[in-house]
Amino acid sequence: MQQTTCGNRFRRHGRTSLLAGGVFLMLAGAAPAQEADVTFARDVAPILQEKCEACHRSGQMAPMSLTTYQEVRPWARAIRTKVVAGDMPPWHMSKTTGIQKFINDISLTADQIDTIVQWVDAGAPLGNPEDLPPARTWPSGERWRVGDLLGRDPDLIVTSTPWTQPAEGQDQWWQPVVESGMSEDRWIKAVEVRPTLEGRRIVHHGNTALAEFAVGKAGEIYPDDTGRLFKAGEKVRFDIHYHSVGEEITDYLSIGVWFYPTGVVPKYVVKHSPMGVFQAMDTFDLPPHTVTKHHAFIPLEKPTRILSYQPHMHVRGKSMSMEAIYPSGRIEMLSYVENFNFNWHVNYVYADDVAPLLPAGTMIKLTAWHDNTAANRANPDPTQWVGWGQRTIDDMYHAHVRYVELTEEDYERMVEERRQAAGTDNNQ
Ligand code: HEC
Repeated sequence: MQQTTCGNRFRRHGRTSLLAGGVFLMLAGAAPAQEADVTFARDVAPILQEKCEACHRSGQMAPMSLTTYQEVRPWARAIRTKVVAGDMPPWHMSKTTGIQKFINDISLTADQIDTIVQWVDAGAPLGNPEDLPPARTWPSGERWRVGDLLGRDPDLIVTSTPWTQPAEGQDQWWQPVVESGMSEDRWIKAVEVRPTLEGRRIVHHGNTALAEFAVGKAGEIYPDDTGRLFKAGEKVRFDIHYHSVGEEITDYLSIGVWFYPTGVVPKYVVKHSPMGVFQAMDTFDLPPHTVTKHHAFIPLEKPTRILSYQPHMHVRGKSMSMEAIYPSGRIEMLSYVENFNFNWHVNYVYADDVAPLLPAGTMIKLTAWHDNTAANRANPDPTQWVGWGQRTIDDMYHAHVRYVELTEEDYERMVEERRQAAGTDNNQ
């Protein structure tokens, strides 16, 4: 029966019927004891509430809702495939290499993946409905999540010029530049970007120079005493990726900005660098039927604390790592996005106690892998020789890195604090 449900509701996912067919075969062979072990009601529903519903519920960006057993059952097989591959939830950071603690981590734990796999392999049983957790309630999409956290509405709201995405058609990149109307310089404490409620279905991602929209992400709040300057008269540049969903939808993005009180100047300035972009322009070269590796080296002149890392490549991008080469010669892998996916622009925000703390003279080494072979399913044409460029069919690489520069004294103090917190003395 599940094929019928699935076929009716999600015609474009015709392949799921085939996959669900496989579930029947498995069912026949599954041992009854296994079925009782892991159930939807007791074990799987809480995981989906925690890790999937933010996007997979009605009115949100994901193609199907996953809030009840009836909704989830037809997708069991596809869910297994996506979570095992690390495609869903969209979090493509290596689980074994580099720093592992992020404030916006939406990934599944190894145990959670295991639970889902066992459940699907046992025939995806419901179990005892009495074990079901209460339905999760979600704040209305019209709220500012950062506002909820800070306890007040934004000081400034700027909206992008509306865009109408046709029912069918190619993906569009919409890049309006909008006046902010700011008449004085102010320091930013937090920012959040959000589309209209309807627009959530067509916005793939939205960037501005200030912040980006990604579902499941509650905007950016900077650590105390840390901020960015919004200058009087500054314009807001949007860069929004829209895709068609079978019905015409008009959307605009709103950016909300929360400032420090007038006159307050935070001690640390959040800086942003598209690290590697110049090296990439000079050297990027991707022959047909080839997997390439490119490197960029970026020296840090001052002691630096890195806040976040967001690799950027196009459809042939495969992986990107960021290492630190310390002045002592020691090399440390900071982060390795193993399973890069061009459709997702995930910004990995380090937890405070592990954010890279690097001395002056450190060299950041980026390594970008691109796959221009037929094995890369996103590759439109492996016979092409690809150069650096802005179009999706061209390619590129750089890492958006947000960081603050520290004084020597503050750097020493922070290193010492970490050393004490860790109870060790091997912290560089
Ligand atoms: C940040 C939002 C987000 C989160 C969190 C998320 N998804 Fe998704 N999911 C999407 C979007 C958007 C798509 C369609 C585009 C794509 O596949 O990248 C999708 C696609 C899928 C698909 C493939 C559907 C198809 O067309 O075949 C599956 C299966 C899936 N998600 C399962 C899950 C599961 C299970 C979780 C939680 C463990 C999860 N997703 C978490 C946004 C999300």
